[in-house]
Amino acid sequence: MSKRKKIALIGAGNIGGELAALCCSKQLGDVVLLDIPDKADFARGKALDLEQDGAVRGLDACVTGTSSWDDCTGADVVIVTAGIPRKPGQSRDDLIAVNVPIIREVADNAARSCPEAFFIVISNPLDVMVHEMQSRGGFPKNKVVGMAGVLDAARFQLFIARAACVSVKDVRAMVLGGHGDDMVPIVSATTVNGVPVAQLLDAATIRAIVLRTRNGGAEVLRLMGTSAYYAPASSAIAMAEAYLLDQKRLLPCSAFLGGEYGYRDLCMGVPVVIGAGGVERIVEIPLTDEEKAMLKRSAESVRAVVSTAAQSPYRASPSGFLR
Ligand SMILES: NC(=O)c1ccc[n+]([C@@H]2O[C@H](COP(=O)([O-])OP(=O)(O)OC[C@H]3O[C@@H](n4cnc5c(N)ncnc54)[C@H](O)[C@@H]3O)[C@@H](O)[C@H]2O)c1
Repeated sequence: MSKRKKIALIGAGNIGGELAALCCSKQLGDVVLLDIPDKADFARGKALDLEQDGAVRGLDACVTGTSSWDDCTGADVVIVTAGIPRKPGQSRDDLIAVNVPIIREVADNAARSCPEAFFIVISNPLDVMVHEMQSRGGFPKNKVVGMAGVLDAARFQLFIARAACVSVKDVRAMVLGGHGDDMVPIVSATTVNGVPVAQLLDAATIRAIVLRTRNGGAEVLRLMGTSAYYAPASSAIAMAEAYLLDQKRLLPCSAFLGGEYGYRDLCMGVPVVIGAGGVERIVEIPLTDEEKAMLKRSAESVRAVVSTAAQSPYRASPSGFLR
């Protein structure tokens, strides 16, 4: 008989809490909600609230709030939201100084506690954090991915559905490249149940939707004063489910490239197949010349941020929160 799965959520903030709630609702396994020592009680309280919610709803998942990495030992999936979110007016790259040392700390602890896990990184700046998590932790490249494309594609799909007056269920879209302002919504691969989007919407409307998608995170941030969390959590859970249930879903995720699309030693959003083997393959789709040029620009931006992150003074851990 197979044992219950264990999902470790690193960061018990807005997205972490929503991730925990979704893991329980979907009965994916037992949950560990880990935060820094100063917020251990907050994590414990959230865990207790969720277990009590489970008692009302008849859900059996155990939820543990903690600041000890010992509780993450043997986790099957680790989803990382540790770090700070953007404030209005900030770009994702403005978070490097704080969040890069945090992801290094997380990678060091994860390498000791749960090196066999499938890692899904959400913290920003996303592609750099994926790169740091994999290289610092020394995890296999197929076991570390970043969540951005599923969310960006969902935003693109929603805006298309509303403009074309069709169900969002029928819109299939792909957003590639880095999770930044120059992400690349692939219009040529976007359809409404096989009907090219260009047959349903005029060029100006599509251009406006592409722009709104690129600013999708900033739009929510401006309205709420903090980052989105419902849709980011659902997006990461779709990726976790694909791994845990060996669904072989084809999803846009930030993955480590080894020559695909002409890039190497770089993490950015590409279509990947996720199953029990983690990233089982990266799928190369045909792009127009314009899309290739946009992807190049996006890759250059990611590379620039990776090299900024690699420089001191971002080497030291900020909190000394190591076991
Ligand atoms: N990839 C995406 O598409 C996407 C979308 C939205 C937000 N984000 C990013 O996700 C991150 C989390 O967002 P949020 O809204 O949940 O933020 P939040 O502030 O609500 O929660 C983050 C939590 O991480 C904790 N933390 C900090 N350092 C830690 C460490 N070393 N170990 C464990 N926990 C630690 C904090 O104490 C806090 O509770 C941010 O970086 C945000 O920019 C990414």
